[in-house]
Amino acid sequence: MVNDEVVVTPWEVKGDIDYDKLVRDFGTQKIGDEIISKIEQIAGEVHPLIKRKIFFSHRDLDWLLSEYEKGNKFFLYTGRGPSGDTHLGHLVSWILTKWFQDKFGAELWFQMTDDEKFYFKDGLTAEFTNRMAYENALDVIALGFDEKKTFIFSDFDYAKTLYPQAAKVAKKLTFSTARAVFGFNESSNVGQIFFTSMQSVPAFLPSIKEGKNIPCLIPHAIDQDPHFRVCRDILPKLGYYKPAAIHSMFLPGLKQGGKMSSSIMDSAIFTTDTGEQIEKKVKNAFTGGKSTAEEQRKTGANPDICSVYNYYFILFMWDDNELGDLRKRCLCGEILCGDCKKILENKIKKFLNDHQKKREEAKKRLDKFILRD
Ligand code: TRP
Repeated sequence: MVNDEVVVTPWEVKGDIDYDKLVRDFGTQKIGDEIISKIEQIAGEVHPLIKRKIFFSHRDLDWLLSEYEKGNKFFLYTGRGPSGDTHLGHLVSWILTKWFQDKFGAELWFQMTDDEKFYFKDGLTAEFTNRMAYENALDVIALGFDEKKTFIFSDFDYAKTLYPQAAKVAKKLTFSTARAVFGFNESSNVGQIFFTSMQSVPAFLPSIKEGKNIPCLIPHAIDQDPHFRVCRDILPKLGYYKPAAIHSMFLPGLKQGGKMSSSIMDSAIFTTDTGEQIEKKVKNAFTGGKSTAEEQRKTGANPDICSVYNYYFILFMWDDNELGDLRKRCLCGEILCGDCKKILENKIKKFLNDHQKKREEAKKRLDKFILRD
């Protein structure tokens, strides 16, 4: 049976996603040329993840940038639900977040929602998600965030600070709204219903700490938007700015269709994978190739449905000329999938080799980044 249902919620993403439709349905703004040149004007360059519109949508980014130009600096907020090991798909948002930190000198507040993953994932214990929060933090640190400007915290371990603020949000949020936004029902546990209040807190916590309103930019994958719709509704009622956001697409898995997901066998490459595992996963990746080499040499292949090409496009070939050249050679059958996969395999191995070294070093510096109370 063909299942062509499309679902994009914070708990589930599946199907062939039409991102323009999401912009319309969610009521966000598309990243257009105007905002791209504004970013370039301020930062001196535009990150390929924005230029290629992998970050394709936003809320109030234009407002945030004009505040910045007036001298009203913003802080960054993003997060991770620590349900298991980090994979390459998670890094997409974090890489752009790091770029924003570098270019705009912004603080980063990074939330590890160990409580969320405990509430939402059957079979995960609170102890496990809490432990994974610190494992995942190593991947964040390995990307090179500034230890003086980066604050990472687990909801469980920073609860004394977070909880009183979450209560202020929760009091403004009715069950009826939470149910409409997230689709809860009678058998949803009450932790789930409360949880979104926790995810709102980092969007105004720095304003509380500084005793003045500070604009906030949240880079995140589009599936998290329902949380921030609620957050943006409530924060002005508490006297804070609505947070701005910039939304990414999902990094597709190495299999046909769908996002990179830990639950689909071999569709995800984890930051802790060995060279052998990388080799095997890339070898088995879905491509736009033809059934025989002979046919492919004659008629070429289709990069637009190819997961390997997607990996180049999103993370591993940011040079437009290099990618354009590869695309041409693919379309005319000059390069075959086996060779193309080998190049990707080597790029991923090189990236992860380096990442794993930095991840090891991060273990010694973890305390410098962690907030707890
Ligand atoms: N709920 C997110 C997840 O499941 C984690 C998260 C918390 C987050 N705060 C965030 C993600 C802010 C992006 C931005 O992964």
